[in-house]
Order: sequence, then C-alpha cells, then structure tokens
Amino acid sequence: QPARAVDLVEEESGAPGEEQRRWEEARLGAASLKFGARDAASQEPKYQLVLEEEETIEFVRATQLQGDEEPSAPPTPTPAQQKESIQAVRRSLPVFPFREELLAAIANHQVLIIEGETGSGKTTQIPQYLFEEGYTKKGMKIACTQPRRVAAMSVAARVAREMGVKLGNEVGYSIRFEDCTSERTVLRYMTDGMLLREFLSEPDLASYSVVMVDEAHERSLHTDILFGLIKDVARFRPELKVLVASATLDTARFSTFFDDAPVFRIPGRRFPVDIFYTKAPEADYLEACVVSVLQIHVTQPPGDILVFLTGQEEIEAACEMLQDRCRRLGSKIRELLVLPIYANLPSDMQARIFQPTPPGARKVVVATNIAETSLTIEGIIYVLDPGFCKQKSYNPRTGMESLTVTPCSKASANQRAGRAGRVAAGKCFRLYTAWAYQHELEETTVPEIQRTSLGNVVLLLKSLGIHDLMHFDFLDPPPYETLLLALEQLYALGALNHLGELTTSGRKMAELPVDPMLSKMILASEKYSCSEEILTVAAMLSVNNSIFYRPKDKVVHADNARVNFFLPGGDHLVLLNVYTQWAESGYSSQWCYENFVQFRSMRRARDVREQLEGLLERVEVGLSSCQGDYIRVRKAITAGYFYHTARLTRSGYRTVKQQQTVFIHPNSSLFEEQPRWLLYHELVLTTKEFMRQVLEIESSWLLEVAPHYYKAKELEDPHAKKMPKKIGKTREELG
Ligand code: CDP
Ligand code: MG
Repeated sequence: QPARAVDLVEEESGAPGEEQRRWEEARLGAASLKFGARDAASQEPKYQLVLEEEETIEFVRATQLQGDEEPSAPPTPTPAQQKESIQAVRRSLPVFPFREELLAAIANHQVLIIEGETGSGKTTQIPQYLFEEGYTKKGMKIACTQPRRVAAMSVAARVAREMGVKLGNEVGYSIRFEDCTSERTVLRYMTDGMLLREFLSEPDLASYSVVMVDEAHERSLHTDILFGLIKDVARFRPELKVLVASATLDTARFSTFFDDAPVFRIPGRRFPVDIFYTKAPEADYLEACVVSVLQIHVTQPPGDILVFLTGQEEIEAACEMLQDRCRRLGSKIRELLVLPIYANLPSDMQARIFQPTPPGARKVVVATNIAETSLTIEGIIYVLDPGFCKQKSYNPRTGMESLTVTPCSKASANQRAGRAGRVAAGKCFRLYTAWAYQHELEETTVPEIQRTSLGNVVLLLKSLGIHDLMHFDFLDPPPYETLLLALEQLYALGALNHLGELTTSGRKMAELPVDPMLSKMILASEKYSCSEEILTVAAMLSVNNSIFYRPKDKVVHADNARVNFFLPGGDHLVLLNVYTQWAESGYSSQWCYENFVQFRSMRRARDVREQLEGLLERVEVGLSSCQGDYIRVRKAITAGYFYHTARLTRSGYRTVKQQQTVFIHPNSSLFEEQPRWLLYHELVLTTKEFMRQVLEIESSWLLEVAPHYYKAKELEDPHAKKMPKKIGKTREELG
C-alpha cells in the first residue's frame, strides 16, 4: 500500500533494532548499578500510584522545591488564553515588566550578565527588544547563541512567528550544515559553534552590534571558548554589546570573568514542586519510566508530563513502548499523546511538542536534556526524572573519547524538577531514591571543556592566530594533558608543524566544518583520487547511526535488507553503498521504504554532502571518483583515522598505540568477520568500549599514510609467523 509507505517514511518511527535494544538493556542494567545503594527509608507517608493490575512503582514524597507563588493557577492554559494574541503572550512573560530597565542597563554597560528562570523570556524576547530599540540599524546584526541545534531552530521559528516575518528573512538560524538566514537576517540565532566559525571570516565580529551568549550555564565547549574570544573583541570594539544569559546558576562566575560586569536579575515566577523519590532503586529505568508515565496518567489530575531520557535511541524506544501499552489499554484510559524531542528530530516533528494539548487528552513529552533549560513547553505539571544524562568523557592519557550514560548532577536534577512548576504547582517523580540523590549525585556538571578532546577547537584557535593556548583566557582551563594531546594529534595529522604553527594543510582543515580527522580524510581524497566517494562517506558518518530502519514486525526483512548492503571492507563502504544506490534510485523515498533505510537521514546526508562539496574548491580538492577501486577509498579514510586503529590479538581487539581493549559493535558489518587490522570512527562506552563504524585496513597502509606516526616495528604481527599463510591473507588477496 503506497499510502502506508509514505506514512512510514514520513513518520520516521525509527524503531531501534532488537540488537540495539539488547545492548541498551545491558547498558541500562549497568548504569542503574550506580543507584543501587540502599535507601535510608524516608519517614514521609508513602505515595503510591496504582494502575490496574499492571506492576506499579512506589514513590515517597520527600522534599519540595519552594516556589514564589501560591499554587492556584489552572494547570493548562484555557482555550481563551491560547487564543490570546501573540503580543499579549509576550507581555505576560516575566521579562516584560523589566523591558525598559533592561534596555537601559544594556545601553549603560558593555557587558551585562542576565540571569533568569527558564521560560522567563530571555531567549525569545531580549533580541526582539534590541531589534525594536534600533540595535539593527545600518545593517548591524544581533547574534544569539545556543549550545543546541534544536533550540536554535525552534527559538528562531518562534521569534519569526512573534514578529510576523518569514523564518529566514529578518529572523533566521544558522547551525552546522544548515543555514536558514539571508542578507536581510538581522536576528541570528545560531549554535555557539557557528559563531565560533564566524570569527574565521570576521575576527572582530564587525557586522554585529550585539552578541548574546545564551544558555551560558550549560558551559558547552564552544560557549566557553566564545567567552575568551568575545572578551578580547569587546576590548577593542567598545560599541559592541555583550550579553551573557543564564539560568539561575553560577552567574557570579560570569560576572567575575567579564571584569565584574553587572548582573541583571529577572525575578522568577515559580510554583512549588513536590518531589517524590522511589522507595527502592529501579533496575531498568526505561521500563520504570513507561510504567510511571501510565501511573501518572491514570491517577493524576490533568497536566502534561515531561520525561527526561538520555538520547534518541532511548527516547524512541520509550515512545514506542508507551504507544504500545496505550494501544493495549485502549479505551480504559484517556488519550495520551506521546511526543519525542531530541537533537536530530526533524523540525516539523519538533513543532508538535509546542502545540496545545487537546481538551481531555494528556501530552507526554519524552526529551533529552534539551528540555532542561533550552526549551520551555507550556502546560507541564509532571516531571519524570530517571536521573541520567549522556555525557562525553575524555581520557587525555589514551586519547579516547566516549559517550556514556551517567547520573546527572544535583543542579540538573533541580532544573528538571523546576520544569514542573512553571504554570502551576507541580510534581516531580525521581526514579531514584532520596539516598541516591543525597549521596550519589555530583553537585554540578563538569564543564565540557574539561571532558572532551580539543583538536577541533585548538585548530580553530590556531587559525585565528592564537598561538599561546596555555595562556588563553579560559573561564575554566582544560586539563593540560588534553591541550598537549590535541597539539600532538594536530601535528600528526599535519595541521601543525613542529613549532606548533599552522600549516597550509592545517589552514584547509580548519575551513571544513568537521572534526580534524574527517577533514584530513577529505583532504587525503585528493591524493587517492576518490573525493566523490569520500564526500559521501563523510556525509553519511555525519548523520550518524540512524540510517537503517527496523520495524518490530519486519525484523527479518529489515535485517536482510541491511545485510544486502554489506561490502567487503567494512561499514564505511556499506554507508557508501547505501548512498550510491539511493542516488541511483533518484533519491527516492520509495526506495528507502523498500530497503528499510531512513529517508530523513538520507536527505540530511545529501544536504551535508552538497555543502561539503561546495567547500572542496576552497580546500583545493578536485572532484574525482575511484571507479570501484575501494582500496583507494579505504586508504583515504586511513589517512584521516590512523589514530583510531585496533588490531586483533589473542585476547581480542587492542588499540594499536595505547593497547586498550575494545570491541566491534554488534551492529557492524564486520562483527563476525573479525579482521586483523581495523580502524574505527568512534568509540562508544556502553557495557564495553565498542567501536562504531569500523573498516578493515592493512597495517602497511598505516606506514604509507602516517610514516611519522607509526614505526614498522610496532606494526609487526607477533602471531603472523605461527599462522598458516592463507589465513594471514586479506580478503582482497583471496579474491
Ligand atoms: O530563554 P528563556 O528560558 O528565559 O525563555 P524563552 O525561551 O524565551 O521562552 C519564553 C516563552 O516562549 C515560553 O513561554 C515558551 O513556552 C515560549 N516558547 C515557545 O512557545 N516556543 C518556542 N520554540 C520557544 C519558546
Ligand atoms: Mg532560553
């Protein structure tokens, strides 16, 4: 049925595969061990929600977040309120009464720290006030940075609607690989990373009259770097206004950093929130989430629910489980709208979370951290917090970066709880014990700059002529070893010379808005005459893990379809194969449907590919194709990723340089092949250190692409002599 086909493709229900679920489950089990400590049983009365015969989770009411207002307001906006004009809504925001005062403060100070409860109107209103006040006269622009892409897009869309203009005209957004701005765009919402890149073309930000660094409390890597750069620019551009906006956290630090800039506080408007903890630790928080949402739904008065999970896969799994149970319960329960929100969610789907809930129904929004402070959804009364988030961590000794699900900080947990008290008194259900909250959560989240690799940022700073990184003005400096390793890696990639100066190739690498290793791979495609293929691989790697679609009822078909794309050599070639066949189909959505490929991901890959292709000329790489000689493609990839190599030893895979134990991800096409030498795109720590997107290589290629990095001796194979010759051969040799 073609109608259903369109449906499926358009919906992007992206059910995670069984395999993925398995890993997910194993991981969840591991993660929850952290909360496995005993509970100092609370004396508070027991609070139990009951859902027919289904299992239930027991919560105990333990604390209350103090609000500033009496709990009286109606839980959801009345239809009359919803119909109120946009201007009336604008006037109702907490920031509005302070409009004049705020504008005066901005006029009087070059740098102003603005602190206000989430949802008070900082992001959507302040740039508009500045616009109305004439800060965009003479073609000057206002930048407002967001650490998250979704926030930049959705906020820009909201502001465009409020101003009654088309998105991309006066108001627009700019995120990596997606520019929705034009010559006319004076209010520019952008990711912090994009403003960083603006420094490359306009080091003094001369076309901007105001820069608002928003969500400063998030302390994302790029925001932290922006602080240093903007502080510097502000010194020699006295007319530039700098605003640092933050939720109510840590604003004194920002003030001190900016030479004691004044802090403007927007008084909050917050209702009390009752906090409940589980009596005992939950073994599987995903399952516990689903049960709790249903418990809330059947036992609690009207009001929408916000659930915090850690990422796309988990969110999709939870949404699916919820929809499944609702379907089974049928008319026994009232309607429950289940809506996901995460970074890669297509924008039309994002918009749905902001639509008012129909009368009689309840909405549950299943979100990542993004809903903690970056986005405000009206009507939330209940927050469900499993207490986890996905966090990057980095080991500068081994150079290994991993993304792990870790318990969130107390500051995070309290931000999350606060989301329940915006429109009325709310409730926050924490899926961990009061004991765990007290004893196992860190106070605050460590700034990203201290737990990530810095290759990208160091390359950018070097391109901006900032040579002495050790003395860069950091709000919190990164670990010394991390900086050093970044310099070393950039040297190995040929981006810096032995004096630490930027090379020609380094300058080109900085031109490409991707990680240094990926840039290097693209540059290397010139030498191996395969830029067409490498562009595709780069684009497919950038859309990341959401290529294949695996609906529960067609698992076998989906798996067969996936295996059909396998090519000897590994996952990068599989990605290339998928894209090539899709392109041959005329970029057809029907083709995607038939082959269990996610159309949206492919469309995005196509966008990314086009943009990268547009930059090739700037980095002096010509278009060329390998004509089926995949060895060349694999060598070009190796030229970028020779840092990420592993070899098979008696006791499994070990990274070549650091001798770390790693494993091939079960979703990889090489999972069963177990080649002797391989490179990986990234490591993901779940139950183990998994290598995702792996490619079979030959050790001799490492000497070819990185002779300065590898010595022949360390690439010798200790077991090779003992192996019968044939087994030692690669598949190419065997034909
Ligand atoms: O930045 P801050 O957290 O202070 O508030 P904001 O993001 O400017 O939000 C102000 C209001 O705009 C809130 O009531 C949000 O619900 C609303 N908003 C929206 O309806 N749609 C968006 N995409 C963003 C904000
Ligand atoms: Mg905001």
